[in-house]
Amino acid sequence: MNNNNNSKHRILIFGSSGWIGSKIIELIKTNQDKQYDNICIFESKARIQNRESVERDIGIFKPDSIINCAGVTGRPNVDWCEDHQIETIRSNVIGTLTLIDVAYEKGIHVTNFGTGCIYNYDDDHKPFGNETFKETDPVNYTGSFYSKTKAIVEDLTSSYKNLLMLRIRMPISGSIKEQRNFITKILNYEKVVNVPNSVSVLEDLLPISIDMTIKGIKGVFNMCNPGVVCHNEILELYKKEIDPSYTYQNFSLEEQAKILKAGRCNNHLDVSKLLSLYPQIPTIQDSLIDIFRKIRHQQQHQEIVNINE
Ligand SMILES: NC(=O)c1ccc[n+]([C@@H]2O[C@H](COP(=O)([O-])OP(=O)(O)OC[C@H]3O[C@@H](n4cnc5c(N)ncnc54)[C@H](OP(=O)(O)O)[C@@H]3O)[C@@H](O)[C@H]2O)c1
Repeated sequence: MNNNNNSKHRILIFGSSGWIGSKIIELIKTNQDKQYDNICIFESKARIQNRESVERDIGIFKPDSIINCAGVTGRPNVDWCEDHQIETIRSNVIGTLTLIDVAYEKGIHVTNFGTGCIYNYDDDHKPFGNETFKETDPVNYTGSFYSKTKAIVEDLTSSYKNLLMLRIRMPISGSIKEQRNFITKILNYEKVVNVPNSVSVLEDLLPISIDMTIKGIKGVFNMCNPGVVCHNEILELYKKEIDPSYTYQNFSLEEQAKILKAGRCNNHLDVSKLLSLYPQIPTIQDSLIDIFRKIRHQQQHQEIVNINE
């Protein structure tokens, strides 16, 4: 560390080995000489339910802000959480609360990645309807153990005034090699439902998460691109832009429910609160054009590499 680091904003990240955590680290490190030259990023390997370890790392790294990307989502999917409830509670409830509470005691701002999977369409919020779920709306979905843990934490952490809770949903990235990418997930399903949903394009929203962290913004935000996208719309784009020979099959929500252990939700989250601060966030349809362009470039590059090998 050089002396200039004393004036830099120090961020300590938990869950840095995960999909979202590693993207934040990469984003900051690859732009360290550009827009992030005022940031020092540090990684904690502490288990977040272990208060002493969390306190120790905060003492060592002396962060101005904390970003929490630690949590369990289940592998290969959230069905895992149904059979591993204690592990899920330990990370998603005890761990998240411990980390936020320690930071609160020390007066440190925390950005926590939560989920939008705590809402489901209902009679007042219909697919393609005018009513969307606002940050202030009561949770109406705890149909999976994963969602239940996230909803409990949202409820309890609303008392903590050092917190920025970012609800992301069905995250999308510009690499279909990433198994967590929602595009990759639905490409690999045997059958897909076709429902409009809010989604989060990480290329658009992670830089904004970092900006919100630096600015110390607090409160709950639906962290999604404006608009909704249906599964078939994404798969049709994939066919058009990447592989015209790709085929897929639909099935109903009722048929889907029969093959899953945990429930799944579908929703349209209101993003006007986020847009009031960051009006430049592209609509999901505009963003997907860029995402598929990026995927196509990657594939063309890979083909050239394969030819030259
Ligand atoms: N991916 C999604 O679809 C999605 C959607 C909405 C919200 N989110 C939320 O975003 C956050 C990050 O998700 P992700 O996709 O990056 O998950 P991920 O790839 O599974 O990574 C999770 C990270 O959390 C760490 N972790 C888990 N339990 C921990 C504990 N008790 N103490 C310390 N570290 C722990 C893991 O480290 P180890 O491997 O060492 O345990 C890993 O680094 C999660 O809270 C998730 O609920 C994700």
